[in-house]
Amino acid sequence: MDHWLLASYRQFLRPWLFLMDAEDAHNLGHKLLSAGAGVMESAAVYLGVENEVGTAAAPSSWSNLSLAGRPLHNPIGLAAGFDKNGKLLDGLASLGFGFVELGSVTALATSGNPRPRLFRLPADQALINRLGLNGDGAVSVASRLKHYQGQGFPLPVALNIAKSNKPWVVQEKAAEDVAFTFQNLRHLPFTYVVINTSCPNTHEGASFAASELTMILKAVQGLNHEAARPLPIFLKLSPDSPESFLDILMPLARSFEVRGFITGNTTVSRSGLRTDAERLATIGNGGLSGAPLLTGTQTMVKEIVLRKEKEQEVIACGGISQAEDVETMLKEGAKACQLYSALVYQGPFLVLALLQELKMRNLLRQSANSPAPFS
Ligand SMILES: Cc1cc2nc3c(=O)[nH]c(=O)nc-3n(C[C@H](O)[C@H](O)[C@H](O)COP(=O)(O)O)c2cc1C
Repeated sequence: MDHWLLASYRQFLRPWLFLMDAEDAHNLGHKLLSAGAGVMESAAVYLGVENEVGTAAAPSSWSNLSLAGRPLHNPIGLAAGFDKNGKLLDGLASLGFGFVELGSVTALATSGNPRPRLFRLPADQALINRLGLNGDGAVSVASRLKHYQGQGFPLPVALNIAKSNKPWVVQEKAAEDVAFTFQNLRHLPFTYVVINTSCPNTHEGASFAASELTMILKAVQGLNHEAARPLPIFLKLSPDSPESFLDILMPLARSFEVRGFITGNTTVSRSGLRTDAERLATIGNGGLSGAPLLTGTQTMVKEIVLRKEKEQEVIACGGISQAEDVETMLKEGAKACQLYSALVYQGPFLVLALLQELKMRNLLRQSANSPAPFS
């Protein structure tokens, strides 16, 4: 389905945005989102896909939709990296997302890598970024979010934590660093907390030593055990980890009560791209996201679903851009999905249009009396 709002974005707004540097366009999007929540709300009402997905047309199982036992509005979430500092929650609530993952938040504030560091690959509907975990730091994000403590977030919000991107933050120091962020933010009503073990834009790249991960999980579990309201812990995986890494990771996750997995982060691979090699060489290092990840995401979801414990949950992330992709991931056993890059190519109304199509498909299936993938 091609909704006219998506077609209008592609025809009128996108060509103009794509004349700008990708990070400048992203920052402009942030400003519009902070200012224009009302426009999105009107669009949601117009499309008949109000943010509270509780209408008669919604697939019946959405009303019971949850992650780690906490309710979601719908199964489409915003992946980490879009709202790194928790500045956009009110605006994002109006885009139709079922949940939002903010971060990655790090203990230390950092400006990240030098610009340019975000690139579009239109021929592949993909992005390459090497932002390098730029962010305001845990203390500043905690102070920004303080007012949500009593009133609650405007939609389900998860927190993504990464260790500070400094060469000396390894092993015990990495555990202290992640625990510092967790301690500063854990009093907020997050749906879950993700430990990002898989950012390719750090000093070490995506691979995380098992010994370091053990120390991090132990530190976070220790804090969680002493809390009145422990937060469910998820791990974000890399599509670049060898399958053998799962032999180490899954038992570790089990012993530290990890509640679920996000599959996955960006990839350093450039294989199978349409973008020419010269352009790729000019761009250089960074994590690739968007459409080329889709097949790998499906494979990873299958693999983790096979290996996980019954109570552990999987969130599919990487290359998702269509209602069909959401249905496929849920059928493979993912509990929910996340997207990011598709917003750049399809525009801010993407999630509302996807929700509308998912409802339509479900209604058609119901009327044809065939089993729906959500029930
Ligand atoms: C510009 C950009 C910044 C990102 N920053 C983060 C981040 O800070 N932490 C994280 O866990 N993932 C980050 N990601 C990865 C996304 O959360 C997601 O895993 C990845 O983009 C695959 O999803 P997609 O194909 O829908 O974009 C970032 C992605 C992009 C494009």
